[in-house]
Amino acid sequence: MKKTILITGGAGFIGSHVVRLFVRQYPEYQIVNLDALTYAGNLENLKDIAQYPNYTFVKADITDEVFIPELFRNYKFDGVIHLAAESHVDRSISDPMAFIRTNVFGTVNLLNAARAAWKEHVEGKRFYHVSTDEVYGALDFDGKLFTEASRYDPHSPYSASKASSDHFVRTYHDTYGMPVVISNCSNNYGANHFPEKLIPLSINNIKNKKPIPIYGKGENVRDWLWVEDHARAIDLIFHRGKSGETYNIGGNNEWTNIDLIRLLCRIMDKKLGRREGESETLITFVKDRSGHDLRYAIDSTKLKTELGWEPSLQFEEGLEKTVDWYLENQDWLERVINGAYRDYYEKQYGHKV
Ligand SMILES: NC(=O)c1ccc[n+]([C@@H]2O[C@H](COP(=O)([O-])OP(=O)(O)OC[C@H]3O[C@@H](n4cnc5c(N)ncnc54)[C@H](O)[C@@H]3O)[C@@H](O)[C@H]2O)c1
Repeated sequence: MKKTILITGGAGFIGSHVVRLFVRQYPEYQIVNLDALTYAGNLENLKDIAQYPNYTFVKADITDEVFIPELFRNYKFDGVIHLAAESHVDRSISDPMAFIRTNVFGTVNLLNAARAAWKEHVEGKRFYHVSTDEVYGALDFDGKLFTEASRYDPHSPYSASKASSDHFVRTYHDTYGMPVVISNCSNNYGANHFPEKLIPLSINNIKNKKPIPIYGKGENVRDWLWVEDHARAIDLIFHRGKSGETYNIGGNNEWTNIDLIRLLCRIMDKKLGRREGESETLITFVKDRSGHDLRYAIDSTKLKTELGWEPSLQFEEGLEKTVDWYLENQDWLERVINGAYRDYYEKQYGHKV
């Protein structure tokens, strides 16, 4: 069936994998990728599908109260998959307002535009909000997992802004009958991850023999999921998830930061032909982040039993694939680190953005 779908934040890390999956898998859909190209957006992530006839890129800000409703009127979207966000916890600690603007105000602006556009015919429409497990706060080391019924208890301005946006999305379902779905996912890793985040930052530092900073004693636990498995889950939930429902997505794959980095060091020692244990000497413990959540872990039973989703990769395999990608795409990494990526795509491919 033909559909026109708006994907926001498609030039970012997870968004680019979602856009690629939809453009390739559903040639009958028109995919509109809307992204403001903040520091986290990089059109080079999508250079392989940029010329597909069912793909359009629109540079715009989700907080724009004039342009966004106009876009909905012009394109008559059947669905929205909303990923655009400020996403880095450390940045949220130094500039919370940017997170409120994009994550809260921007989400509500999209909801308003969808509500106005779908006023007459809401059947078959869908507003999918992509969120994080960080809204649930922190777990102890007691083996408990976050379920869809877990209480919201955010501890950083980032997670508070995502929690607030989740509440608004649910409100639009309950108050206005908007057909919404929400997913809350654990930490993602994989290709095209911006090198301010733990795994790509550490890969880059190991490669360049620079110190690998680890917060506190590295005891914080995260549940890691390969980004392409997240994109597959989003595809399933968008098409088959029940309106008004929330789905947790996780890899059932908990690692302390220090164990993860040690594994990464071992993989990279092998790949770079270094003596075993050489890269581990780069590990440097730094002052802990304030409000740093101890442990996140997700129970994805609902997604598995209701929609039949399973992660496809074991973590060791996924991490090795990720290291391979960064070693094969050192130019991409260099350009992101030295800032040349900001106008590289336009210069290289001649597309005005
Ligand atoms: N990365 C993770 O591990 C993870 C885990 C769970 C959920 N999430 C959620 O998934 C989504 C995507 O995360 P990510 O890691 O790919 O983020 P990212 O920072 O890599 O990408 C965000 C994208 O949104 C765009 N953007 C930012 N502000 C915008 C605005 N005002 N208007 C339009 N576009 C804007 C950026 O240019 C960028 O392309 C976010 O909503 C995040 O909360 C991320």
